[in-house]
Amino acid sequence: MQSTARVVVITGAARGIGYGIAECFATKGDRLVIADLNLAAAQAAAAKLKEEKGVGDALGLACDVADRTSVQAMVEAVVAHFGRIDVLVNNAGICPFVDVMKMAPEMWEKTLAVNLTGAFHCTQLVAEKMIAQGDGGRVVFITSLAENVTGPAQVDYGASKAGMRMTMVGFATALGKHGITCNAVAPGMILTDMTRFHWEQPGPAEHIKARVPVGRIGTPTDIGHAAVFLASPEASYISGVTLRVDGGHQACCA
Ligand SMILES: NC(=O)c1ccc[n+]([C@@H]2O[C@H](COP(=O)([O-])OP(=O)(O)OC[C@H]3O[C@@H](n4cnc5c(N)ncnc54)[C@H](O)[C@@H]3O)[C@@H](O)[C@H]2O)c1
Repeated sequence: MQSTARVVVITGAARGIGYGIAECFATKGDRLVIADLNLAAAQAAAAKLKEEKGVGDALGLACDVADRTSVQAMVEAVVAHFGRIDVLVNNAGICPFVDVMKMAPEMWEKTLAVNLTGAFHCTQLVAEKMIAQGDGGRVVFITSLAENVTGPAQVDYGASKAGMRMTMVGFATALGKHGITCNAVAPGMILTDMTRFHWEQPGPAEHIKARVPVGRIGTPTDIGHAAVFLASPEASYISGVTLRVDGGHQACCA
């Protein structure tokens, strides 16, 4: 793996946590690929990273992680442009927030297709390139607090994130011999467009203060800093682990 100006592919990075992760990799001088369902937003995010964060080269590409053909096309476009891939961050995800007893089977399948199968497609297809390059690589999965605890309106989501955790562990066993590490960051409550409708209300805001020991909601760059560490040369002996970045939420029994 190159140690400078690495090529970092982040899925679902047009906004939210993915964009915060991109901002953190930008501070390391890496070259960035914003791969998102929304092409216009991905291109706008890439342009913003170049203008505001001084990224030397950032590419916005269309990619539906649930569609293997789309992932394959994205990976080929990255290699055509940059010649290699050093780091993959599996960040793209959805959370419909629908009670499990009212959930249509199609919605269940979509959550699993994007969050779980999407991470499988991206990791397998990117790892093929990393193995061919012959100098290792890094894969970081963005899971969730919901891989361990969930509620009636996040059963599909919790199942997908728990599955993602074991997908990460399994790929760690398969790819270690190629110098490719796989790890996860499990965010707690982070303020993004996915969750804003909930956390900006007074009741939930009080809940955060009561349940999160550090007393605040998380930011996308809280997650980005952890992803940068797990992708760093200093983390070369860390593989198959999940780093919880939740302000101590899961440690708290209040
Ligand atoms: N916000 C939180 O509190 C929180 C907590 C734990 C985990 N997470 C996880 O972090 C990740 C990012 O969440 P966020 O809050 O930034 O969400 P978000 O909805 O703000 O952003 C998600 C991004 O992913 C893209 N996307 C959606 N489906 C896609 C697909 N099929 N292919 C490619 N891109 C797709 C969207 O276009 C969007 O740009 C998700 O995996 C989510 O499960 C979020």
